[in-house]
Amino acid sequence: MSKIMVISNPKGGVGKTTTAINLAASLAIAEKKVLLVDADPQGAASAGLGFEQQHSYAGIFEVFSGSFVSVETVHPVPEPQLANLELIPANIFTNEREVRLMEMAKNRIRLKLKLEEIQRRSRDKYDYIIIDTPPALNDLTLAGLYAAHAVIVPLQCGYFALKVMERLFSTVERIKNSVNPSLYLEGILLNFYEKGTKASRMSVEEAHRLYADLIFKTIVPKNAAIGYSAFLKKPVALVDITASGAIAYLALAEELISRHRKEQPVLEVGRLKDLQIVEHLPSLETAI
Ligand SMILES: Nc1ncnc2c1ncn2[C@@H]1O[C@H](COP(=O)(O)OP(=O)(O)OP(=O)(O)O)[C@@H](O)[C@H]1O
Ligand SMILES: [Mg+2]
Repeated sequence: MSKIMVISNPKGGVGKTTTAINLAASLAIAEKKVLLVDADPQGAASAGLGFEQQHSYAGIFEVFSGSFVSVETVHPVPEPQLANLELIPANIFTNEREVRLMEMAKNRIRLKLKLEEIQRRSRDKYDYIIIDTPPALNDLTLAGLYAAHAVIVPLQCGYFALKVMERLFSTVERIKNSVNPSLYLEGILLNFYEKGTKASRMSVEEAHRLYADLIFKTIVPKNAAIGYSAFLKKPVALVDITASGAIAYLALAEELISRHRKEQPVLEVGRLKDLQIVEHLPSLETAI
């Protein structure tokens, strides 16, 4: 079954879209099948992967309108090296379409239902579904929280915006206690870390004091290659795999993969005795 992770922080400019694109690409590079859902009408995740809006006859708009079969909203990304990554783009070209999308998104459960349908129709081919959300706790973000198993919260070193975080956490708690009991906080991702600066070092200490185990081991440094790759409309790993930003997102993918592997033991030794099937099979000789 896919693990659905929503990238959320109502504060703007903290690295949600950067994380959505680069984590999705890093998981795809690690040979996981990934679907990235651009649930921000600004379409920064779609644009950041070089996806041309005019190619998207169906996308997030149709996820909410239901006017297309769900799998028709899924597109390959232009980068041939990312064959494991597919995209539901934010195909919002006009203010009018955005207003209509926001109207339809009041039906917040729709995204969850559509993603379930996509998983069924694609025979559960995705290991990960990642949802990018807008900088607001609006209906689109809530739709993401309804649909997800896990929340990843990027946090900008030096600007913690504690009130905003409290609102996000209480919203996650409320959704967990009502429509989506399996929702949990996967982790807080510190971003824009500046090595050697006292401010960043203090930020990390403060984040650990406030959020303890919720902080990912991986910290994303402030890295010019991240900004440059956004300009080139590519994930940073495809621009410079040796850049500190690329290494950080590959490490984050690794951190998540190994964490999730531990969550799902393939077969516990104790359960082997329950598997009687082998004993009932005729031996090869008697079968012939
Ligand atoms: N670690 C980093 N190093 C350098 N630049 C970064 C880093 N992370 C993000 N950026 C840049 O900061 C800007 C904001 O990042 P991004 O768009 O990912 O934030 P966001 O939270 O999605 O913003 P919004 O709330 O507006 O959707 C972008 O120009 C991005 O390229
Ligand atoms: Mg964004």
